[in-house]
Amino acid sequence: MQKRVRTAVFPVAGLGTRFLPATKALPKEMLTVVDRPLIQYAVDEAREAGIEHFVFVTGRNKGVIEDHFDRQFELETTLELRGKTAALKALRQDLPSAGRTSFTRQQEPLGLGHAVWCARDIVGNNPFALLLPDMLFKGEPGVLKQMMDAYEETGGNIIAVEEVPESEVSSYGVIKRGEGPDNGFRLTGMVEKPKREDAPSNLIISGRYILQPEIFNLLADQPRGAGGEIQLTDGMQTLMHTQEFTGVKYQGKSFDCGSKIGFLTANVVYALDRDDIREGFLKELRKLDLDEQL
Ligand code: G1P
Repeated sequence: MQKRVRTAVFPVAGLGTRFLPATKALPKEMLTVVDRPLIQYAVDEAREAGIEHFVFVTGRNKGVIEDHFDRQFELETTLELRGKTAALKALRQDLPSAGRTSFTRQQEPLGLGHAVWCARDIVGNNPFALLLPDMLFKGEPGVLKQMMDAYEETGGNIIAVEEVPESEVSSYGVIKRGEGPDNGFRLTGMVEKPKREDAPSNLIISGRYILQPEIFNLLADQPRGAGGEIQLTDGMQTLMHTQEFTGVKYQGKSFDCGSKIGFLTANVVYALDRDDIREGFLKELRKLDLDEQL
């Protein structure tokens, strides 16, 4: 039996410079796809996968994320008085139970590896899930749930991967694929943001991980890597010498909401998927006569 994964870590300290000026005072994780903030989608995905404890590695200016995962009594009372019971129920459902969230700060922007390391005391000696909220996944079941199914079989460390055009590999962590089927194959290597010609494949690390706690000690001494940052991928590459890593080529579609194009596309796709919005939205889109531009 594998040790159960109860905890998920969400690194939310990034400055979001690609979305300025929107992200000057607003955390990028609070940008909305239709009417839900990005961070809510990641928390929903983790809950669906059975996660019970939600750990946020935040930074200055990110207090709103903590407020978002708290009760808002004034709002709740008003909704109740106005008889808006469906909205009230939905708000309450979105919330993790009391005592099931933790917040810690990454004091300096030293990279993803450092952000993950900042969660070490809260996670303790347990396997944990790691979700990068910039990456939004539409999948049935959710991507983390698909990875949990692989974890039940193999234990160890699990990484969600997807194919991208070769021209894009240098923006991501890239893996080397070993033996096994798409829903659970051996990983034999990985490299962070390689030059196109040095990339071991066009399979990228998609921003969802299940990791064993031994990663923390490695990250503690991890020298800076690509972009001068402490890279999680470098720590994982070292851990691979002593532990197994399994790749899952997940079923579903991803939106890289760290980029404007990915974010805007996600808004269109998620809006068209909503029964209460689809028809009205399509009507407006038709009026725009997009055919000429497409
Ligand atoms: C991070 C990881 C990278 C991964 C990517 C997914 O990079 O370091 O391995 O492929 O997330 O979005 P970042 O986007 O923070 O540069």
